[in-house]
Amino acid sequence: MAFAHVSVMTAEVMHFLRPGPHRRYLDGTLGGGGHAEQILIQSSPDGQVLGLDWDDEAIVAAQERLSRFGKRLAVRQASFAAAKEVLADLSWQLIDGAVLDLGVSSHQLDSAERGFSFRGGGRLDMRMDRRQALDAREIVNTFSASELQRIFREYGEEPQARRIAAAIVAARNAKAIQSTEELAGIVARAKGSRRREHHPATQTFQALRIAVNQELQQLQQFLEHGYELLKPGGRMAIISFHSLEDRLVKNAFRKWDRECLCPPRTPRCNCGWSCKVKLLTKRPVLPSAQEIAVNPRARSAKLRAVERI
Ligand SMILES: C[S@@+](CC[C@H](N)C(=O)[O-])C[C@H]1O[C@@H](n2cnc3c(N)ncnc32)[C@H](O)[C@@H]1O
Repeated sequence: MAFAHVSVMTAEVMHFLRPGPHRRYLDGTLGGGGHAEQILIQSSPDGQVLGLDWDDEAIVAAQERLSRFGKRLAVRQASFAAAKEVLADLSWQLIDGAVLDLGVSSHQLDSAERGFSFRGGGRLDMRMDRRQALDAREIVNTFSASELQRIFREYGEEPQARRIAAAIVAARNAKAIQSTEELAGIVARAKGSRRREHHPATQTFQALRIAVNQELQQLQQFLEHGYELLKPGGRMAIISFHSLEDRLVKNAFRKWDRECLCPPRTPRCNCGWSCKVKLLTKRPVLPSAQEIAVNPRARSAKLRAVERI
């Protein structure tokens, strides 16, 4: 199956990163390579990009698409949470810009055998990094009802988390749950037949995907020290697709922008912190109506950006 993914908010990402020659960039979520390609074009003739992705299929597809850039592109199968180590391995000290375009690609969602979507009937999998042992089937068939409930509530903001967890445990006691279709059916029956805008299993599937890939932990780890990757004047843009991710990005960027982290009314600052970045986006930038019309996947995107001081 050809790798299909339409990049989101490419013009806005380029507006903030301002790619130019002699510079080095990190694309921490390479996917189909759309953002990396634009960075490479705009940083001609010698700008360089390190592209990271957890997904072996994304790595192969992006390398093929971007082969014309030769050594200007370095690609590694790794989490962006390990960006610092990979950059050190390449002897790239500090970089001029970084982009993260979080979540799943359309290719992952549309490939039934990757088990991300309730459509298509693939085996329950949802691993971005297929070298990893834990998959969605294991979570669904072995985690306790209370753990499942927590996952659906925390990561899916699913109001019927308890009912869904109980239905899953009842179903798996009869027979292990193997496919996305079976799980979608169990969730739909547990939630009842009220008319809805989205498939009743949308939030449950999102929650499971986040749990399988530890997506929030990876992002949080990156955000602990992410500003340290950038040269002074270097810029970072992050696109998120749901409120849990956006909150982490917003809070981290606000922290990086603060002069001091001492509790209010501390007589003299003793935190040792200093302002690390300038916020380039006080509020998140949203995709244009034209982009959403052409690419509905863009509708929930939010972009935030900072510049290293
Ligand atoms: C929305 S797509 C990126 C699309 C890409 N920007 C483009 O223009 O084609 C997200 C990609 O990030 C990858 N990904 C998600 N979390 C990751 C992580 N922690 N580390 C590395 N890659 C990750 C996914 O495998 C997926 O390929």
